[in-house]
Amino acid sequence: MPVLTIMPSGKNIEAAEGVSILQAILGAGEPLLHKCDGKAECGSCHIFVLEGRKSVSKIQRQENEKLDTIVGVGSKSRLACQTILGSENVTVEVLSFN
Ligand code: FES
Repeated sequence: MPVLTIMPSGKNIEAAEGVSILQAILGAGEPLLHKCDGKAECGSCHIFVLEGRKSVSKIQRQENEKLDTIVGVGSKSRLACQTILGSENVTVEVLSFN
């Protein structure tokens, strides 16, 4: 089971392999905006994946196109709803709360 570390709070949560980072964060009772409910349409779940990037799912076209429209995107940017956890631990930085 991968451990997901959420920055800036530093909270560690145990997450299941194969779930999205959005599902893992919300399932742990942590806040993260998700206006389109995980359809890669709103961009509000934008996060930075700081560690463990090789373990998570690769960016698909729809996510890539949405990221292109968001201000402040960098090489570590992902949409939490489209990023599926693998077997390794991951550290993310959450940028928006609700
Ligand atoms: S929840 Fe809308 S893009 Fe992820």
